Amino acid sequence: MDSTAASARISRSHVTTCSCFVLSCLLAITLQIVIFSPISPDILELPPATSASLVPTNSRLQRVIKLGEGLVETPEDVWVDKNGILYTATRDGWIKRLHRNGSWEDWRKFDSNSMFGITITKSGSIIVCDCEKGLLKVDDDGVTVLTSHVKGTKIRLADDVIEASDGSLYFSDGSTKFGFHNWHLDLLEAKPNGQLLKYDPSSNDTSVVIDGLYFPNGVALSTDQDYLVVCETWKMIDKTMEMALPSIIAVRYRCLKYWLSGEDKGKTQIFVDNLPGAPDNINLAPDGSYWIALLQLISSRFEFVHTSKAFKHLLATFPGLFELVKGVDKKAMVVNVAADGKIIRSFDDPTGEVISFVTSALEFDDHLYLGSLTSNFIGKLPLNAA
Ligand SMILES: *[C@@H]1O[C@H](CO)[C@@H](O)[C@H](O)[C@H]1NC(C)=O
Ligand SMILES: *[C@@H]1O[C@H](CO)[C@@H](O)[C@H](O)[C@H]1NC(C)=O
Repeated sequence: MDSTAASARISRSHVTTCSCFVLSCLLAITLQIVIFSPISPDILELPPATSASLVPTNSRLQRVIKLGEGLVETPEDVWVDKNGILYTATRDGWIKRLHRNGSWEDWRKFDSNSMFGITITKSGSIIVCDCEKGLLKVDDDGVTVLTSHVKGTKIRLADDVIEASDGSLYFSDGSTKFGFHNWHLDLLEAKPNGQLLKYDPSSNDTSVVIDGLYFPNGVALSTDQDYLVVCETWKMIDKTMEMALPSIIAVRYRCLKYWLSGEDKGKTQIFVDNLPGAPDNINLAPDGSYWIALLQLISSRFEFVHTSKAFKHLLATFPGLFELVKGVDKKAMVVNVAADGKIIRSFDDPTGEVISFVTSALEFDDHLYLGSLTSNFIGKLPLNAA
């Protein structure tokens, strides 16, 4: 063997050792990320742009009147009682109310920064979803926790609630795996970790109505209470077979109909599919249609993140990175959907200039009252002029 060949072989084996070393390092880092990543993600294919383009954008939400500006910190949901008094829960732990004469009252305080969905029962109690503590009842006696567990497991993300005429409280639990402060991990994981629950005040029992939901959010009852509607903030559909590609999941923004009576009792159907945004709270309107607040959770600049498991693990492991790419867009959008699931009209603030990240819309007395997780006021929009 001549010396040139020998030195070539040595340098080749040197290169091989080097690349082996680099490869093992990469492998170790990857393993580290995958093992310590808190999620086991599915890949997400984003919806066709057509669903958004079907609903032309406008700026009608920019005409909102701001109620209680500076007094109400990120009021996620609002409710108005039969006397026209408006209630909302704010991030500083207050349940505040707005009297008809325009004055705000700090009404009841609870040690919480995660009170979301709110409703009022026939008997006049205020029911609030506290993401972390469960379902709360608020009245003249103060605040009581009605339920915090289901089947022995803690409720992690109570989100929105509605009372049926038999007194049952139906409420959503967005994720059984991640709490409110980690909701983005549930989005990255893209798995059906949520459930719809029912609290029966006569027996003090909490039961699961539907499980395996994709981040269930708003809950509403139909006019006749023969079905309820529950919105899945993001619904992943497995298109692996259809597209003959590994693990391709398409996102659909949709709400489901769950029959409470009649021949379809206990069945779940699609109420509205392909919404032009991720549905948050939903409320029945006086005419039998529904108001749904839609969020823009995935910004177009960072769509790619949702198409790679590696990116997802990386983002889930390093929260700082997620902050950089989290696509929470400022755009606000509210749609009015008929009882047959057709979109009748929509109101937007396309730039979020006046009101952004609207999470709920409640109709009362020809006005829409809007909650938001980025505003410090309740939006009030006259419907006749809008
Ligand atoms: C507004 O009404 C509430 C409730 O009736 C009352 O407590 C409050 O003093 C009133 N405020 C003003 C400024 O009239
Ligand atoms: C209801 O059940 C919970 C346990 O799930 C219990 O802590 C609470 O005291 C009960 N309330 C009533 C009124 O029985």
